[in-house]
Amino acid sequence: MSLVLFTSDIRAELIRLLEKCEAGQIFILMDENTSHDCLPVLNNDKITPEHLIVVPAGENHKSLASVEMIWRRLSEQGARRDALLINLGGGMVTDMGGFAASCFKRGIKFINIPTTLLAQIDASVGGKTGIDFNGLKNEIGTFSLPEAVIIAPCFLKTLPRRQLLSGFAEMLKHGLLSGGRHLRKLLTSREIDTSDREFLCLVEESVNFKERVVKTDPTERGLRKILNFGHTVGHALESIAMREQAEFYHGDAVAYGIIAELYLSVLKMGFSRDIYNRVRQFILDLYPEYTFSLSSELLYERMLHDKKNQGKGVNFTLLEDIGKPVIDNYCSREEIMTALSVLPKTD
Ligand SMILES: NC(=O)c1ccc[n+]([C@@H]2O[C@H](COP(=O)([O-])OP(=O)(O)OC[C@H]3O[C@@H](n4cnc5c(N)ncnc54)[C@H](O)[C@@H]3O)[C@@H](O)[C@H]2O)c1
Repeated sequence: MSLVLFTSDIRAELIRLLEKCEAGQIFILMDENTSHDCLPVLNNDKITPEHLIVVPAGENHKSLASVEMIWRRLSEQGARRDALLINLGGGMVTDMGGFAASCFKRGIKFINIPTTLLAQIDASVGGKTGIDFNGLKNEIGTFSLPEAVIIAPCFLKTLPRRQLLSGFAEMLKHGLLSGGRHLRKLLTSREIDTSDREFLCLVEESVNFKERVVKTDPTERGLRKILNFGHTVGHALESIAMREQAEFYHGDAVAYGIIAELYLSVLKMGFSRDIYNRVRQFILDLYPEYTFSLSSELLYERMLHDKKNQGKGVNFTLLEDIGKPVIDNYCSREEIMTALSVLPKTD
């Protein structure tokens, strides 16, 4: 049975789930934004203020120091093994809360309520939990499944547009990988309207697609690698943006990564140049132009350090066609440099 529940009535769904879980104390983990914007929506009298745990917002707080604070709070409040942790927030909160719960007293139950589009589409599925450590993203973590994930569109109302775009890039990726109606609908949407029923159906389709992939290959040995599409170039872009301290989100990097990797697919796999042109223009129209300039040389060098490589060059998931991904393609330096030249502001 699917762990992911979609609802337009988050309070009713949560009450039903809490009854089913038969938990002892209930704790809610949030960051300072979701405690302000999202907690009031839950408004549940089973939860008392001493059971609320708030961490500062932002990726740099997805840390061991924050986890220690969470464990201390659970311990001081006398949390038992039957306690339940509700993680209410974006991927930072759900990743870190899942990790904290998976270790506390050798594992307590947790429920994820993702409140960003990225967390709903991507972080909600697959059981990956973790924190950043020693300057490395998601260096420490576990595979641990929540009791359930509740996806409620109402939370997206307060989400800034830049954050919406970040999640939308992953939806676009899922559309290209799964093909058909999903992608056509995405490419015809001119703006992201989170109250549009059609958009919410696409969110659901996107989550279901990721669930199917993850179920087939939970430990990322084969099929799950298709989800890396757009991410080899994307991660390199993200790390350069981070170094430049530019305001450039994960989803922005993935969107531009999709452009370059789709072009590689044109070069190597015979992917349609027309569709590539359409997707490229769609991304350029929707996503903010990045402010930093890029050297293809530097991007390439970053890609060589990608952990998916196995000493044979740079590894990509590419597309033969929409809905036809192929994993483990090693591309030559020359091919990669040609593909990078289609990105704006590269030399
Ligand atoms: N586990 C996985 O499979 C997986 C997959 C993808 C990403 N991730 C992780 O997810 C994290 C990124 O997730 P994210 O983009 O959701 O970041 P995030 O959790 O940092 O949230 C982004 C910002 O939005 C704010 N916010 C969240 N919900 C809001 C709401 N409803 N209204 C207003 N503001 C809100 C947050 O406070 C934060 O400032 C990264 O740490 C990444 O590693 C995990």
